[in-house]
Amino acid sequence: MQIAVLGLGYVGLPLALSLAKKFSVTGFDINSNRIDKLKDSSVVFTSNKDDLRKASFYIIAVPTPVNEYNQPDLNALFSATRIVGSVLKKGDIVVYESTVYPGCTEDECAPLLEEISGLKYGEDFKVGYSPERINPGDKVHTIETVCKVVSGCDDEVLEKIASVYEAIVDAGIYRAPSIKIAEAAKIIENTQRDVNIAFMNELSIIFGRMGINTYDVLEAAKTKWNFLHFGPGLVGGHCIGVDPYYLVHKAEELKYHPQIINAGRFINDSMGGYVGKKIVKNLIAEKIKIYEARVLVQGITFKENVDDIRNSKVVDLIKELRDYNIDVDVIDEMADAKETEATYGITLLKKPRPPYDAIVLAVAHDKYSKQKLSELKELCKNKLFLFDIKGVFRKDIKHFTENNFYWSL
Ligand SMILES: NC(=O)c1ccc[n+]([C@@H]2O[C@H](COP(=O)([O-])OP(=O)(O)OC[C@H]3O[C@@H](n4cnc5c(N)ncnc54)[C@H](O)[C@@H]3O)[C@@H](O)[C@H]2O)c1
Repeated sequence: MQIAVLGLGYVGLPLALSLAKKFSVTGFDINSNRIDKLKDSSVVFTSNKDDLRKASFYIIAVPTPVNEYNQPDLNALFSATRIVGSVLKKGDIVVYESTVYPGCTEDECAPLLEEISGLKYGEDFKVGYSPERINPGDKVHTIETVCKVVSGCDDEVLEKIASVYEAIVDAGIYRAPSIKIAEAAKIIENTQRDVNIAFMNELSIIFGRMGINTYDVLEAAKTKWNFLHFGPGLVGGHCIGVDPYYLVHKAEELKYHPQIINAGRFINDSMGGYVGKKIVKNLIAEKIKIYEARVLVQGITFKENVDDIRNSKVVDLIKELRDYNIDVDVIDEMADAKETEATYGITLLKKPRPPYDAIVLAVAHDKYSKQKLSELKELCKNKLFLFDIKGVFRKDIKHFTENNFYWSL
């Protein structure tokens, strides 16, 4: 079978490489720079649409972000669909992997494929949906080791799609009863995480007022067998902070205004500003002149040990501090400095320029988590003034004898 994968990003590239171990694969991306970098592997990488014609099984894994109003931006999805539509033949199968709201594949993409190809959906060509569960930076949960949900527009195509994924997923596959169910399952996986993290963030705001550490509370509560393991934090990236908006969009189209999902989004989207204000309040309490204050932020990627800066909420925190005219230095050896400058207008320094009034450990990359408190103190003007978002040093600080200030979510 000839397979074509459209969109060679975090999802599409590892998928194309994995499928290439068993099938003949063409990897297509509109970004020709990306194609040039990838060329020496067993996959035929291309940005020429005509190279797709020999395929009979198409997988679409292009981005599905939100626009500035947090509405689904389906431009890449529709553009990839048009490209496939223009080369589609009788008997072909198109599988969507991009995260979408329930109904998008059958109600919007399949009619577009029909319109562009002039073929009949369900008779001449068939579609399926198989959501991706890749977790960037995670070497344990990979395509091969995590059960994959598959679905198809009828039983016959479901079996064909299942056989392709079965060839590469050692953990096995799950046949969902319908495409809409598979789409819904994917979107609630991330929405569930978002809502639970929002709950933890709300607890952190409450416990902060009580003067108790949220991570300490969670550690105690976790000793109960059915207490769920979530923690507070800045929710960024392309999935958890985005996918719930797709579900909200669909719900609102159906005249239901989700309360819990939107509340979770509101809390999580506000956390960068909340942490920024916390820092300002504590600097003022320390009688530090805000307009002369210097702060070092360690980490700008959307989560620890990845180089991905997409939708990073550390940016909100930096913006909040800069709104108060605080002089903020940012370092992150994992992030691409050019991309960070181009995307956010934030210059990454190669090295800190001490002394600082405060340090924010924003992203718990291994490198930052392994620092010694004494090293951090050396970066500070007077005492150690540490804002440790993920609570990495909360246990060590108790044994750090010098007069210092410590805060975590
Ligand atoms: N990254 C993750 O962890 C993850 C996990 C699960 C699901 N998803 C979902 O998978 C989808 C893809 O995400 P990603 O993180 O791989 O995105 P990405 O931005 O890393 O990569 C997408 C690639 O698609 C290319 N592209 C854009 N428009 C195209 C078009 N019309 N034709 C061909 N190529 C095109 C881009 O150039 C880019 O290389 C999204 O729907 C996302 O929500 C992502």
